[in-house]
Order: sequence, then C-alpha cells, then structure tokens
Amino acid sequence: MAEVCTSVAVVTATADGRPHGATVGSLASLSLRPPMVTIALDQHSNLLARIRRSGRFGVNLLGAGQADAARAFASPAADRFAGVPWYPDDGLPRLRHAPGWLVCRTHRFVTGGDHVLLLGLVTRVAGSRTAAPLVHGRRTFGTHSAFTHGTHASLTDRIAAFAR
Ligand SMILES: Cc1cc2nc3c(=O)[nH]c(=O)nc-3n(C[C@H](O)[C@H](O)[C@H](O)COP(=O)(O)O)c2cc1C
Repeated sequence: MAEVCTSVAVVTATADGRPHGATVGSLASLSLRPPMVTIALDQHSNLLARIRRSGRFGVNLLGAGQADAARAFASPAADRFAGVPWYPDDGLPRLRHAPGWLVCRTHRFVTGGDHVLLLGLVTRVAGSRTAAPLVHGRRTFGTHSAFTHGTHASLTDRIAAFAR
C-alpha cells in the first residue's frame, strides 16, 4: 500500500479541555448526501479514544509545505502542538496554516482487523482555493504537480461543492 498515494491530514479532537491530533493518510470521501468522510484509525490510537469520548473531530488537510507538521503529529512527542500555530475552531484544534478544514460529527465506528473505520458526518468545510496539497507515497512527502500550476479546483472546493 506504500505505492498508493494518499492525502495527508492532521485529525484533531478535544478531550478533557486538551487538544490532541494525529497524522492520517486514510481520509476518504464516503457520501455526498449527507456529506460524509471515513478515516481508518489503529485500535490503539490515542486519537481514536478521544474521538469516542467527544463524538467530534476536525480534519486539517495539509498543504505542500507542511511535511514537518505531518511528521510531528505522527511522532511520540508529548506535545505535538508545540511549534505548530493552532487555535480552537468549533471547539476543535485547527492548524493555522493548513489549507483545508472539515468539522465532523461521529456517525459510526466499524471494526476492520486491527483498525477502526470511523464514519463522520461533515458539518462544516473551510479552506483555501489555491493551495497545493501535501501528498504521501512510497513513504515520501510531495505534492501533485498539476496543483502547482493552479489549474485545478482544490480538494476543499470540491467537497464544498458536493455539500451544497
Ligand atoms: C503519512 C502518514 C499517514 C498516517 N496515516 C495513519 C492512518 O490513516 N491511521 C492511523 O491510525 N495512523 C496513521 N499514521 C500513524 C499515526 O500518525 C501515528 O501512529 C500516531 O502516533 C498516532 O497517534 P495517536 O496514538 O495519538 O492516535 C500515519 C502516519 C503518517 C506519517
């Protein structure tokens, strides 16, 4: 599966008043009406435990220049938010420089082997129209070359169009 390029997002939750976030490459579009996405999280993921408690999560779609943030939010560091500007949006941690933002409510948790497929209802979408996305393939961060020429609608624009 390392051959399959993915988007890169930092999924966040707030639990006990504290922010939490982890890097995911498993974000996928699920439904248009209502707008829904899925994310696969390891059964032992700390983020999953927090999302189960709060019933909500945020998705920060990372931009081409944010590989360091992707690495930070995949690391065992105690405070992954140190050095990454963020603020609360709808009560969820939003990274200041991430080009895309989804607010989601949990709909269902489906166990699949050692992961859990989280089905989320998208309640809000925001983002930049022009930023190039961060892409991950063959364990390498990069971007989609067509986006760097600015000729394609961004992922968040397309999600917003579907949600209308
Ligand atoms: C590019 C990339 C994509 C990742 N995608 C996922 C994913 O989809 N699901 C997952 O459970 N972990 C994924 N990880 C690993 C988690 O970010 C990592 O295990 C993190 O420490 C989990 O944190 P948590 O225990 O606080 O949830 C990914 C890591 C990277 C670098």
